[in-house]
Order: sequence, then C-alpha cells, then structure tokens
Amino acid sequence: MGTKELYDEYLITGMVDGFEPIEVVRAAQCTLTGADGRAYLDCFSGIAVVNAGHGHPHVLAAARAQMEALVHCGTYLYYSPRAGELARRLAAVTPGRLQKSFFGNSGAEAIEGALRLAKQFTGRKELIALNMGFHGRTAGTLSITGNRSRKKGNGPYLAGVAFAPAPYCYRCPLRQTYPGCGVACAEYLAEVLRCQTAGDVAAFVAEPVMGEGGIIVPPPEYFKIAMRHIRQDGALFLVDEVQSGFGRTGKLFAIEHYDVEPDLMAMAKGIADGFPLSAFIARAEIAAAFKPGDHLSTFGGNPVSCAAALANIEVLLAEDLCGNAMRRGAQIRQRLEACRERQPLIGEVRGLGLMIGVELVTDRQRTPGVQAARQIREACRQQGVLIGLGGLYGNVLRVQPPLVLTAAEADHACDVMEWAIKQVKI
Ligand SMILES: Cc1ncc(COP(=O)(O)O)c(C=O)c1O
Repeated sequence: MGTKELYDEYLITGMVDGFEPIEVVRAAQCTLTGADGRAYLDCFSGIAVVNAGHGHPHVLAAARAQMEALVHCGTYLYYSPRAGELARRLAAVTPGRLQKSFFGNSGAEAIEGALRLAKQFTGRKELIALNMGFHGRTAGTLSITGNRSRKKGNGPYLAGVAFAPAPYCYRCPLRQTYPGCGVACAEYLAEVLRCQTAGDVAAFVAEPVMGEGGIIVPPPEYFKIAMRHIRQDGALFLVDEVQSGFGRTGKLFAIEHYDVEPDLMAMAKGIADGFPLSAFIARAEIAAAFKPGDHLSTFGGNPVSCAAALANIEVLLAEDLCGNAMRRGAQIRQRLEACRERQPLIGEVRGLGLMIGVELVTDRQRTPGVQAARQIREACRQQGVLIGLGGLYGNVLRVQPPLVLTAAEADHACDVMEWAIKQVKI
C-alpha cells in the first residue's frame, strides 16, 4: 500500500480540503523533498513551526545527545535538568516579569493550563476572547475560539465566555476607519465587560497577531487600550503566542511590538523547531496559585524536546533570525504590495516579519476570493512553492516560511505567487 492508501484506510482525520497533499520524506532548511524526489520551497513551515529551518544541525545534535542520555522520566515526577534549564531560559527571553513555566505538548494544552491557572489565581471564572481568534481544538480552547468553521460539531461550549470585536481594520466589524476610529474595537472591551459579563472575568485571551484568522495585525495602540480596560476590571491578560512566537514576527514574541506586559503567555509551535513541546509562563505570584499536583502532563517537558528548545533559542539569537524575519518579511511584503497595485484580486497585504497574509477579493465590495485562494495555493504547489490559507472565509494566502529564508528564496516565492495570482480569472 502507498502512503496515500494507508492514510485513506487507517488515519481518521482528513487532509486539508481542496489540496493535493505531497508525500514528504525529507527536509532541510526551507526545502521539503517529496517521495518522487521533487523539491518544494516550504513557505508554511509545518504551520509556523520550524522557525530555525528544517533539521537545523545544532538542534538535531542537542536532541540526539539528550536522546542517548534520557528520553523520558516525567517532568513532574522527577527533576529533569533540561526542563529546569529551559524554564530559566524562557524566563530570560520572555517580556516583563513572566518567570515560571509549565510544560505540555501542544498549543491547546498550554492555553488550557494557562486558563486554569488564571481562574485559580483570580478566583474568577469568566473569560473574554476575540471574534476570529483561534486557540486550539480541545473543548476549552474551542470555547474561546471565535470562528464557526473551527467550532462546528463539538458544542455546547463552556459558559462564561464573552467575545470582543476583532481588530480587523480591512473589514472593521464596527464599520470604522483607522486611525479616525480611535481604535474603537479596543475601547469596545469596556462595553463587553459591562454588558456581557457578570464582573467575574479571570482573563482576556488574545493572539498578538491572529494567525488562523487571516494574519490580522491589530493597530499599534490596540493592546495598550485593551489593557487599560482589562486591568481596571481586575482581569489578567493571557497572550497566545503559539503561532506568533519565537521570532516569527521579527521579535522573539509578537506582543513585544505592542509595549504591554502580559500576565501569562502560551507558546508552542516554534519553541523547539519541530520537536513537540508547549509551555505557558506566568508571573511568580500567579504561578503560586497552582499547588503541587494541581496540574500535570505525562509527556510535558520531555527532555529531548527541552534540549531541542534550548538549542533552538540559541540558534534564533545567534543567527539573528528575528532580524532576518524582518528583512525577508519587508522584501516579500514590498513585492506583494507592488503586485497589489496591478492586481485587483489582492485586497490587502499585511503582516509582521515572516507572518504575512494576502487577502483576496473578487470585487470592489471586497467579496472574499475563496476559490481564487485555493487556485493560487494549488498553482503555487504545482510550481514547487508551498503556502497556506486562512481567514474567516479562507480567502487569505498565508506566507510563513522558516526564518532562515534567503533573499533569493524570498524572491522566488514572490515570482511564483505573482505568476499564480495572474493565472486567476475573476
Ligand atoms: C494561536 C494558536 N493558538 C493555539 C493553537 C493550537 O495549537 P496546537 O495545534 O498545537 O494545539 C494554534 C494552532 O494553530 C494557534 O495558531
């Protein structure tokens, strides 16, 4: 049986709709190799995971050495040196007073744990999240996800969750225009707190750049204003850096673009260059709300993944991958912006660093170009460039390559995307 047949016969979840999957057998840096020997330029990084590039030798060497010594012991049963070292490193590289970490395996698990800690610390039970936000696929994280396509088939969801409007300037839910709006979406949080909650809000949860929502970058003042309302209410701020963290946006963490101090942060994806690991980190006094045994994870903080994460952070800093994300991101956005001037199909080009979205529209009323997005992704694949899709309507091209992308690779990706966009007839 070939891999496709094995998948069809024995794997539960389906492939992403409307996309012919590649059988991947090898990868290095920004290149994936298929079973047929064909090379692909990976501009999606296994969904924003391999930030240091596929198979970075320093990360592999660290993981290999750790594997020879110890694969698993249970981080919450015995002391595991790599978990301790990584927690100290995370305290050093995350913003503000974030200090104590809990390790899990997936982004959703990190968010779930952080929500539980926020509730335990504040003694409060309600949550505020954003329309169009995405936080994972467990019952709790879907409860704070503001996107029907992700939530369908798994309700009813947790009570006590209120949603605020997304800071989505291109399709402002409040029908305003930035900056004249005074960032009304952030001010609206006061209204949400007053009208939709019982005054029992433990935390406001938000992605600093909304990934699955279509690479939505909130205006620069957004989080300062939001924090004013949240703090006044006595709630905490949990920032979801699962997708935006570890250099993706040109800073180690995307919230650093906004000059606010989160109380808790969740991270995963880019933490260990592909080794499965997640974490949430909190200020020490918040972390103290969990007593021993309150929260555990069997595989969380696996020594091999922790060793890989330590090496990964060293690589991100030593190779200045934040700087490269900024430079290559600016290069790609500039080219796509120039293309937008000639191509009415491109409604908006947006992003920070190498977290880039291209929103497609079929007319001046900004009708989402859903089929166009699928056609372009497929045409790019046929030309050997892999990109992703996102957005509430699925009409946003997502360009999220490894942060080791070279200038020549960035140009090649733009050549192919521009060519693919030109092929679409609207
Ligand atoms: C912002 C954000 N939070 C949480 C998650 C969930 O992460 P995981 O799939 O590792 O559970 C994702 C996954 O795409 C994400 O983008």
